[in-house]
Amino acid sequence: MKAQRIVILGGTGFVGRHLVPRLARDGHAITVLTRNRDRKREISVLPRVRLVNADVHDPATLARRLAGADAAINLVGILNERGSDGSGFRKAHVELAASLTTACRETGVSRLLQMSSLRAGEGESHYLRSRGEAEERVRSSALAWTIFRPSVIFGDGDGLFFRFADLLRIAPLLPLARAHAKFAPVFAGDVAEAFARALAHPRTAGQIYELAGPRTIELGELVRWTARLIGKRRVVLPLPDALGYAQALVGEWLPGKPISRDNFRSLKLDSVAREDGLAALGIVATPMEAVMPALLAPR
Ligand SMILES: NC(=O)c1ccc[n+]([C@@H]2O[C@H](COP(=O)([O-])OP(=O)(O)OC[C@H]3O[C@@H](n4cnc5c(N)ncnc54)[C@H](OP(=O)(O)O)[C@@H]3O)[C@@H](O)[C@H]2O)c1
Repeated sequence: MKAQRIVILGGTGFVGRHLVPRLARDGHAITVLTRNRDRKREISVLPRVRLVNADVHDPATLARRLAGADAAINLVGILNERGSDGSGFRKAHVELAASLTTACRETGVSRLLQMSSLRAGEGESHYLRSRGEAEERVRSSALAWTIFRPSVIFGDGDGLFFRFADLLRIAPLLPLARAHAKFAPVFAGDVAEAFARALAHPRTAGQIYELAGPRTIELGELVRWTARLIGKRRVVLPLPDALGYAQALVGEWLPGKPISRDNFRSLKLDSVAREDGLAALGIVATPMEAVMPALLAPR
């Protein structure tokens, strides 16, 4: 496979930590754009990987950073915005997708891999609606695009199991909103592999891949399993929707916004796939049982 020059937006986070080394292994030259290089230095120690400060919301900066690249990958995404009117989601998802596709066209970068989410464009949450609108910007761009829609992603340092594990270590009882919401957690390594294969195979242009793991699980069961993995006996208390919504309302005012009303609205839709995008790319999905017990076992 020919090595490519790739620019990644949002590549310093959890998915980026799996994706960047995977692409570096294929020999690609990678530039990761970040808002704060000093806080994310570990990624730049990899061979052929540069970490560069850039305001990706500034069209001129974006165009300058994309010049000469073969492909762009957009991993920027937020689960919470500062206010609650949707403008933060619009900026991070829709406006960025629009300016990125424009910058790609202007600089001759014809290939774009766009991270999205299962159920993008559905339901009432600003998160999912803005994801759908971002996809529309990408699909109408005339670039050779590929869109990925994962369920929740698991792996070392994820925002799912690791976050609940932190809570469960301190809380003997965990009241849980939308405990019956369904997920099909997908391994970060498999997500990275899907991106790598899409870059290698031009036939993936114009395709949307739903990425899900082999098992569908309800949120409550996932949290109970996490408690067992960290060796804690815990009570997980499913909340009826009225109380769950109240919890989300309060959560918006807590440090780090552990849950918001927008998260609650997203959780009304099951995060399960209708098509097996990993299989379509020739990837056998890794079960969470093969990964998480070793990562969360008490030391
Ligand atoms: N993790 C999951 O379970 C999951 C599931 C479905 C979809 N996704 C999507 O996959 C992508 C990557 O997820 P992740 O878990 O790696 O997220 P993450 O750890 O939060 O990383 C996202 C990165 O995006 C950049 N970023 C965040 N907000 C930004 C903003 N307002 N403007 C510019 N850059 C911003 C940050 O980079 P800097 O701070 O370096 O600038 C950050 O490192 C996201 O689009 C996410 O929505 C994730």
